[in-house]
Amino acid sequence: MRQTRNGAHYRPDIYAHSAIVNPYPHYARMRELGSVVWLPRQRVYALPRYAECKAVLRDDTVFISGSGVALNRISNRLSRGTTLNSDGADHERRRKLVAHRLLPRALGAISDTVDRLAGQVVDDAVRRGEIDGVELAAALPLAVVPDLVGWPRDQREHLIAWAGATFDALGPLNRQAVRSVPGTTQMLRFARRVVRQRTVLDGSLAHELLASVDQGAVSADECPALLVDYIAPSLDTTISAISNALDLFARHPEQWQLLRAEPHRIPNAVNEIVRFESPLRAFARQTCVDTEIAGAALASGSRVLVIYASANRDEREWDRPETFDITRDAGRHIGFGQGAHACAGQGLARLETSAMLRELAERVARIERTGPPRWAINNIIRRHERLPLRLVAA
Ligand code: HEM
Repeated sequence: MRQTRNGAHYRPDIYAHSAIVNPYPHYARMRELGSVVWLPRQRVYALPRYAECKAVLRDDTVFISGSGVALNRISNRLSRGTTLNSDGADHERRRKLVAHRLLPRALGAISDTVDRLAGQVVDDAVRRGEIDGVELAAALPLAVVPDLVGWPRDQREHLIAWAGATFDALGPLNRQAVRSVPGTTQMLRFARRVVRQRTVLDGSLAHELLASVDQGAVSADECPALLVDYIAPSLDTTISAISNALDLFARHPEQWQLLRAEPHRIPNAVNEIVRFESPLRAFARQTCVDTEIAGAALASGSRVLVIYASANRDEREWDRPETFDITRDAGRHIGFGQGAHACAGQGLARLETSAMLRELAERVARIERTGPPRWAINNIIRRHERLPLRLVAA
């Protein structure tokens, strides 16, 4: 077996500001270097290609999440007790508590409300004409998700900042990860108070979680982390998908005309958006035995970085990966993960993104950029900070 630390290395920092803004040239060079590439700064084996990313995500007995999916020890410690950071029976038990609330069948009950709210949000934006695409993208998730999860109505103004910080902190311990630690701890502290005071909304996912405490299925101590599990990834991720959709259709007007003419393509368009601009860049795993990936030896305890955003542009897997094309078969992307830890909220994310695209396609003839967009600097989430656009009414 080949020893990779002596094999392919990639020295540039893929978490430097410039790389966060434009990561794709880095990913392309790493894919050229090989299937397993040692990143000396992060001391991690990166997987830039599709096949190895998918295989590792599916092999959750060798590549475990329980010792953390972040690139630093502090966040891995703070994230203990979450569904994301657990393995085997423990993971299954945690996931079973509430994930069923986000399956398509359960979401049927709110789909009319989501459509109605999306209609209102889009009407208002079309009336204004000139908008910030990020504000438009945030409106529906903010109107739907905190109520569904059951987060109390006070302190909602902090949610986006806290959730963004929670993601940022999962990167390497660079300056912005350090800056994000207070936001992460404030969110966890507030979640502890919510559980202690039982201030969750009736009938919500969090309400069901507390009912599980009463039935003895889960301890009250576990609940704050489990609440953060669902509230933290519920906003930024979907805001990323919707704002990236707005930007991509502004840059590819022929794709927008096609979507308007053939709205049955919306579900696949959502896949293509998540493939082309994956909202989550990468998460880590740890090997729990000596193993190998594509002939490269990895000792037990090695950390491996699964780069979803690079896998989704791997030229070995995708024909013309740098082309945004809503007609391609994009369903096998791994932007929502894969295997045991595949995104528990993807049904909701798809519902919201599709509703927004449907309402926009009906009312908007053209989407135009009116200024340069600005990317948010976040170690994990790829989304715009500002996206100046004009919506031209149909
Ligand atoms: C476009 C939107 C979204 C994207 C791209 C996305 C992406 C992902 C990815 C890649 C993972 C896998 C993590 C891993 O491999 O360790 C994941 C897990 C997860 N996501 Fe999402 N997500 C989105 C929206 C949501 C929403 C709306 C929610 C909740 C309301 C949510 C809740 C979760 C949870 C709870 C997990 C952990 C599952 C587990 O460990 O078993 N996500 N997500």
